[in-house]
Amino acid sequence: MIKVAPSILSADFNRLQHQLKIAEQAGADWIHVDVMDGQFVPNLTFGPKIVEWVNRLTTLPLDVHLMVNEPDVLIPAFVKAGADRLTVHIEAIKHIHRTLKMIKDHGISAGITLNPGTSARAIEAVIPEVDLVLVMSVNPGFGGQAFIESSLSKIKYIFKMIKTIKPDVYLEVDGGIDMKTAPLVVEAGANVLVAGSFIFSSDDIKKSIHLLKNHD
Ligand code: DX5
Ligand code: ZN
Repeated sequence: MIKVAPSILSADFNRLQHQLKIAEQAGADWIHVDVMDGQFVPNLTFGPKIVEWVNRLTTLPLDVHLMVNEPDVLIPAFVKAGADRLTVHIEAIKHIHRTLKMIKDHGISAGITLNPGTSARAIEAVIPEVDLVLVMSVNPGFGGQAFIESSLSKIKYIFKMIKTIKPDVYLEVDGGIDMKTAPLVVEAGANVLVAGSFIFSSDDIKKSIHLLKNHD
């Protein structure tokens, strides 16, 4: 069963509660929250306070993607704010085992992610420690970018790694997911699709979610 995680980066914050309700009713599985620090990526977004508000507006689990340098110091605040899963970038952390353990010790799920330019091998050693691997199919920082085609071979490679090392790990893809790319990434092995602009910039949030979920 494919899971869909709408990214609120592209939502209309004047109508966030309404849009989250539609997403929920349409069968969205998680709400994806993109945290950016203006350092690891050239953009700034949400802190723990916003995550706390979003958590009050939805019953869905919050899938929090931390695009920040050295996230350790922020982990307790995001857990307290209601994050159900924290995903960190392999490129942003000096002692990745320590960071993942810190997330798990708070009783929530831990994810690892990698940029398009990072080799799949960089995350192999930590697959036993995670609940989710997120493959970035755009360079992180902004919504609405074009899907990078070489992500498909990386998803296939990581899918095999997960099957061998820890088969119940989720394989999530983030960036440029739409009707055209969704079937390709699912065929490559992904089982969680993050989508921002395809869902929230469309006229029909419900229809967009249904189209993504139709690739079971
Ligand atoms: C990009 C973010 C994504 C973003 C995806 O840095 O990590 O979650 O919201 O947006 P789309 O689906 O528009 O590519
Ligand atoms: Zn994201």
